[in-house]
Amino acid sequence: MESKKIGIFDSGIGGATVLKEIIKVLPKEDYIYYSDSINNPYGDKEDETILQICDEIMQKLINQNCKSIVIACNTASAKSATYLRNKYRQIPIIAIEPAYKMVYDYAYNEPTLVMATKGTIESEKFNILYRKYDNHKTYLEPCVGLADIIERNDLKSIQKYLEEHIGKYRGKVKNIVLGCTHYPLIQKEIEEILGNVNFFQGAKNLAKHLKDVLEQRNLLEQNEGKIQFIDSQGLEIKEKRFFDIINRNQ
Ligand code: DGL
Repeated sequence: MESKKIGIFDSGIGGATVLKEIIKVLPKEDYIYYSDSINNPYGDKEDETILQICDEIMQKLINQNCKSIVIACNTASAKSATYLRNKYRQIPIIAIEPAYKMVYDYAYNEPTLVMATKGTIESEKFNILYRKYDNHKTYLEPCVGLADIIERNDLKSIQKYLEEHIGKYRGKVKNIVLGCTHYPLIQKEIEEILGNVNFFQGAKNLAKHLKDVLEQRNLLEQNEGKIQFIDSQGLEIKEKRFFDIINRNQ
């Protein structure tokens, strides 16, 4: 019998940072990763457009024999998770969100910077979370265009962007919420600008939650741990970068 897979998607290769954490707790599951580079970036798209894009990806992944779907994109999660859960009730949908509650739990008193896409920062879902855990020492920075230059792996532009947009927080913040799944890929470059800061991201908790949900529904499997990669433009360069991130030692 063909194994059932876990489907996971993002607007590009950023969600690899989430899959990496998932594999640590579920190494024997089979995965399909969908990198939607044709629609990248999601960060400044209209809600309606995101819903439509995510719905189409859901259908593709379900048709590929997926038993559960992970939305490895904060923007898509904020805008489409509720809609998709209502539409696809039979399938567990696990969604990432900026790790702002983690700040509340572990480092409440420290000044905090939330970096995320404009779409995430302006979303109702994020604002509910923010109001609930607000430490009154938080800056919100909509990083328009940053995921796109990370996607292009353009180091010079990344460094320039960070200096221009987050240089102003040097010495002012201690906690950094990486509220976009692309940003863990540039943690080193952020540290170069902001110095010694604490990073918070949601992938580890998501991975544990996914495991719990599959366990509760009796959906855990012992397979070969295969990972299939699909890019919506069929770009080989994306596949190479994706597997470099997955296989990288950290
Ligand atoms: N990686 C995504 C996120 O977590 C989306 C980035 C984008 O496409 O703008 O928000």
